[in-house]
Amino acid sequence: MFARYRKPSTTHKIQPVEVAPERSKQQSPTELQARAKAAAAVQRSVPARAAPTDRAEQRKQRLNSLKSDIHKRLLESLNLAALDRASEAELRTEIATIAAETLDEMDVVLTSDERKGLYQELYYEVMGLGPLEPLLQDETVNDILVNGPKQVFVERAGKLELSDVTFRDDRHLMRIIDKIVSAVGRRVDESNPYVDARLADGSRFNAMVRPIAVDGALVSIRKFKKEKLGIDDLVRFGAFSEEMALYLEAAVATRLNIIVSGGTGSGKTTTLNALSSFIGPSERVLTIEDTAELQLQQPHVGRMESRPANMEGKGAVTQRDCLRNALRMRPDRIIVGETRGEEVVDMLQAMNTGHDGSMTTIHANSARDGISRLENMVAMAGLEMPLKAVRSQIGSAVNLIVQVSRLHDGTRRMMSVTEITGMEGEVITMQEIFRFERVGLLEDGTVEGYFTATGLRSAFSERFKRLGYDLPAHIYNEVTPRR
Ligand SMILES: Nc1ncnc2c1ncn2[C@@H]1O[C@H](COP(=O)(O)OP(=O)(O)OP(=O)(O)O)[C@@H](O)[C@H]1O
Ligand SMILES: [Mg+2]
Repeated sequence: MFARYRKPSTTHKIQPVEVAPERSKQQSPTELQARAKAAAAVQRSVPARAAPTDRAEQRKQRLNSLKSDIHKRLLESLNLAALDRASEAELRTEIATIAAETLDEMDVVLTSDERKGLYQELYYEVMGLGPLEPLLQDETVNDILVNGPKQVFVERAGKLELSDVTFRDDRHLMRIIDKIVSAVGRRVDESNPYVDARLADGSRFNAMVRPIAVDGALVSIRKFKKEKLGIDDLVRFGAFSEEMALYLEAAVATRLNIIVSGGTGSGKTTTLNALSSFIGPSERVLTIEDTAELQLQQPHVGRMESRPANMEGKGAVTQRDCLRNALRMRPDRIIVGETRGEEVVDMLQAMNTGHDGSMTTIHANSARDGISRLENMVAMAGLEMPLKAVRSQIGSAVNLIVQVSRLHDGTRRMMSVTEITGMEGEVITMQEIFRFERVGLLEDGTVEGYFTATGLRSAFSERFKRLGYDLPAHIYNEVTPRR
């Protein structure tokens, strides 16, 4: 029934290898010798530092070394062209059948759990991304960080932990990387040692390989979450207070230009996405990203994704190109996923010329630092403009900087909400409206603190009121911490 997924003739034979020490069967001395030899060969292929501590461990290692043989056999036996049309159930059965035959030929006996585990891994190996697959399917994992074949870290609930996932060796890891990047028509090798891509499920993927990655390929995956965190979730998780949420609603709805600033993995994109929920349903929103991560809920959204140059160095479409084109597409608002280069010039211009209500993120550690980053980006874009002119452009373009941060205990918090109020001489003036006040550190590493207003009333309160967002005055009151 499954022969159509199998190549007509596969005569490849694999030498028997002993894996089942508990197997009770009469064996002749010569057989025993052959088996001992084969078992020794398997032992030699196991890395020296992973010396088995007990029988179970030893067995696991032998099984591991078998997997690559069986996988090779699978690739030789399966008719890869027919796989696309097969259902998952058919494929699983076929893989299990071929694997079982191979195990029989190799004279290997496995427990039913081992068999199940093996078939599952082989399925992931053939159809998915091998050892990464269980991590990709694990909803609690946010980030996957691979440092060479033997070290895979994951981020759960804001904390990094070493997983027990490993790759067989460098080649195994490279094969999985190749599988990912070739699926999007890219290549990664010595002459082109780093690459960005998007996995089929939308996750953001970056890899860097030898010789630039010294100890073996480095891979980072930001998992794509179908269910994005909304404003309510973020308030519930303690990312910001209800008062701040009220204020942010008014800020977005009344079209302030907003920058979400923060360090890497601090929750910038998540915050930007959540803020976008306050955009009205009748507005035309265009989003521009290097890797499409944003998921706006509005009905009228145009999504753009920049593109790197192809192998001949041609065909690049930068965020700046997208942004310039977007301005001709009659947007009410423009959202740039992350401003990191020359597109800053067009972004500021857009914010200054009728596309108010635009939003972006930048990589910076405070609101003040964020302004310096913008200045640097403008300077790098080669714009011959005196600093004062650059500052006044930034000062009139940006209304609000929202600073997010990942704290030591793994929680992500909005550390500060700062309004830009204008210029005094050459200095951009700002006022902080809300902040997270750190109180201390508990013994278990939890950061203690609370959100409070600074007591300053928003410079935009009149605008909010005029446009129907008459915020209650108490949200600007300082909070007295409970002792
Ligand atoms: N307040 C939060 N509570 C719990 N998880 C969060 C929170 N904010 C973000 N996350 C999760 O943290 C991860 C990183 O978030 P996000 O992608 O928004 O960060 P980022 O600052 O944009 O990262 P990068 O610098 O890599 O672009 C995501 O998996 C996201 O779901
Ligand atoms: Mg991001």
